[in-house]
Amino acid sequence: MKILFVSAEVAPFSKAGGLADVAGSLPQALTSYVSSMHVITPLYGQIDRQLFSIIPAGINGEVVLDKEVIPYTIFHQANVNSKVQTWFIESEQFFTRPGIYTKPNGQGFDDNNLRYFFFQLVVLDLIERQLLSVDILHCNDHHTGLLPGLLKANGIKIRTIFTIHNFLYHGHFSVEESKILPKLLLSSLSMTQWNNYSALLEGIDHADAINTVSPGYAQALLLGENLDEHSHEHILSAQHKFSGIVNGIDTDYWNPETDTYTSVPFSLNKLDGKLRNKLELLQSNGLDVNMKAPLFGSISRLVENKGFPLIVDLLDDFVAKGAQFIFLGSGDEEIAKQLSKASQRHPGKIAFIDGFNEALAHLIEAGSDIFLMPSRFEPCGLNQLYSLRYGTIPIVHKTGGLSDTVQDWKTGQGTGFVFEPYKLEQLHKAMNRAFDVFKMKSEWTDLIRRAMSQDFSWDRSARHYIRIYKT
Ligand code: GLC
Repeated sequence: MKILFVSAEVAPFSKAGGLADVAGSLPQALTSYVSSMHVITPLYGQIDRQLFSIIPAGINGEVVLDKEVIPYTIFHQANVNSKVQTWFIESEQFFTRPGIYTKPNGQGFDDNNLRYFFFQLVVLDLIERQLLSVDILHCNDHHTGLLPGLLKANGIKIRTIFTIHNFLYHGHFSVEESKILPKLLLSSLSMTQWNNYSALLEGIDHADAINTVSPGYAQALLLGENLDEHSHEHILSAQHKFSGIVNGIDTDYWNPETDTYTSVPFSLNKLDGKLRNKLELLQSNGLDVNMKAPLFGSISRLVENKGFPLIVDLLDDFVAKGAQFIFLGSGDEEIAKQLSKASQRHPGKIAFIDGFNEALAHLIEAGSDIFLMPSRFEPCGLNQLYSLRYGTIPIVHKTGGLSDTVQDWKTGQGTGFVFEPYKLEQLHKAMNRAFDVFKMKSEWTDLIRRAMSQDFSWDRSARHYIRIYKT
């Protein structure tokens, strides 16, 4: 089986969210089962070509978009020591600017639809020119949702799988914009109730197999939770080809024993290193050094559905009780403002770092006691998995992948604190429970040990993907 994995972001080259982590690690895990594994993604301006030895691959081409001929150049990594071959699409018009989806001020680029139409048409062009030999095209999220239909419309008999990482993002495009697309595709598009099109729903309609990133989220989508009626209909009519496969993590990159971003390694049997990471985390972020105070960590895009409206309302209360907090993330300006005000109200108790910083993300996982992840909904979630691996006890809302991967604490059992329904009072209770158990030294250490013994390596899920490929 020759697989081409298509993704708008791939770690470590480009990352806006969890999609990048999956695109960076799942193909790797699949290599032992397939004959070739290729990944293709845009060459964004901020990707460090030198660092990753990314060089031209000697392939050029052009696609027609809105009657305009737009050139592209294919790059690849020289001397890679990996079974995964990654291809990058360079385009001055669409990708060379800095930013993946957004301008520095956080606003989306105006031409995002065009950019990802172009991305998909280049992939189609490479396949048509037989420059990439492919049996199965593995598409991810709406940026790649038109590819299954494009292949079919062009009579190309490559099978497709479409993985939904988040149903929140549709990649809607207008009727006007659709005219840019190849004529052959147009008759297969299906209009939404808002009289536009959804690249996400197109992927669902036309792929041979679809899946989402946890059984719990698959179930929620089938039940129509948080879905408009129209989307729910699409999901239901695709039910026969739909499954939920929980994400794995890269257990080498996220390994407290060998983490290159943290200075003190630790493991199940050498837990004292975790405390030294906590000390470093507190000191390097202006937090008071109080090792007895539980430290709550959060690494998240600052968006409403990650639970921030609940969190910000509880901060004063928990600081009064003696807790400390560290937040890392960027996104919604209003949420950023609230977190920064909270940190000014409570200097030494709350730290907020606006932005993203991979090294700090690792240190937060390593040095925090408790990880806050009360998402209103969560397709899979990866940070709770990193947290478990680093013995940082997650507090999660019982939803999607969070409820599939964290078991609620009871004396001698469980790996975290799980609450429902999604209400302030319930999160408050869960944080209180965590606070209380944290004070019970041996119970807390047992909890850490159970968390760290969980296995979230890709292997089991990779085999599940292989079964779908084979089908
Ligand atoms: C998206 C989802 C997240 C998931 C990730 C990778 O970011 O929001 O829940 O873990 O994709 O599949």
